[in-house]
Amino acid sequence: MTRIVHLSDLHFGLHRGDLVGALLDRINHARADLVVVTGDLTHRGRPGQFRQAAGFLARINAPVMAVPGNHDVPLYNIPLRFAWPFAGFSEAIGADLAPTRAAGTVRVLGLNSTDPFSWQRGVIRRGEIDRLIGGIDPLATNILALHHPLQQLPAIDKELATRAPEALRRLGAAGLHVVLSGHLHLWDCGGLLACGHPGVLQIQAGTALCSRLGDRQNEFAVLDFAGTGLTVERHVAPMAQEGFQPPERLHFRRGGGVWQALDQGPPVPMLPGATDTAFRTA
Ligand SMILES: [Fe+2]
Ligand SMILES: [Fe+2]
Repeated sequence: MTRIVHLSDLHFGLHRGDLVGALLDRINHARADLVVVTGDLTHRGRPGQFRQAAGFLARINAPVMAVPGNHDVPLYNIPLRFAWPFAGFSEAIGADLAPTRAAGTVRVLGLNSTDPFSWQRGVIRRGEIDRLIGGIDPLATNILALHHPLQQLPAIDKELATRAPEALRRLGAAGLHVVLSGHLHLWDCGGLLACGHPGVLQIQAGTALCSRLGDRQNEFAVLDFAGTGLTVERHVAPMAQEGFQPPERLHFRRGGGVWQALDQGPPVPMLPGATDTAFRTA
């Protein structure tokens, strides 16, 4: 079995300080083979916020890989944003903005989908899809980790990242199995399998630490890959109470190139205001 912890949207600088210890405890208790952070490590890309984020990552007792999100470029410092948008991330978190890691039977391909010129809308840059296809291992479970989702629920009317549909189609055909993303501050796991790409399971994490009340809760995921099976543990910490609740578990199996959700329970209802929250905070 290979265990991956998926965190997203930490937003250091606008984060729940009271939850940091509990989050670290849960992450380290999981004894993961790899921790994947899909962007927005900071709220405004400021040096002090990057120092806080780097200090947090240093307390994780597992290998960590991270890609930038749109909040990791300096929004208001225009010269810096256009000339050296990823300087803060590179210095504090890692110079490789699209790292690749192997862990057990899993291969995680990182992608920097942040566009300093449009700031909120993401982009899959020309040549990146070919690079990613070249990184797919036919013997591994292949995972793409990026900030902006490649698919969205119909209720989300934000623009998808440029070339997201092409990336999903071509990478799915090339053997990609899972996408890890964030950005919307809204959980979705398996809700898009019926939307034309049943071979690629997108796990979209909510925000792990952002303190905006409209987000209503913080959360992260623990993924256990075993053969063709995948168990997803969702750890939720409602803002109205202290710490994390016991995790919920979802089960999936892959066969014939298609993922199947094994849980027949009712769909998780969308939180009131969650779509609005996605607009304001992502
Ligand atoms: Fe974002
Ligand atoms: Fe975010």
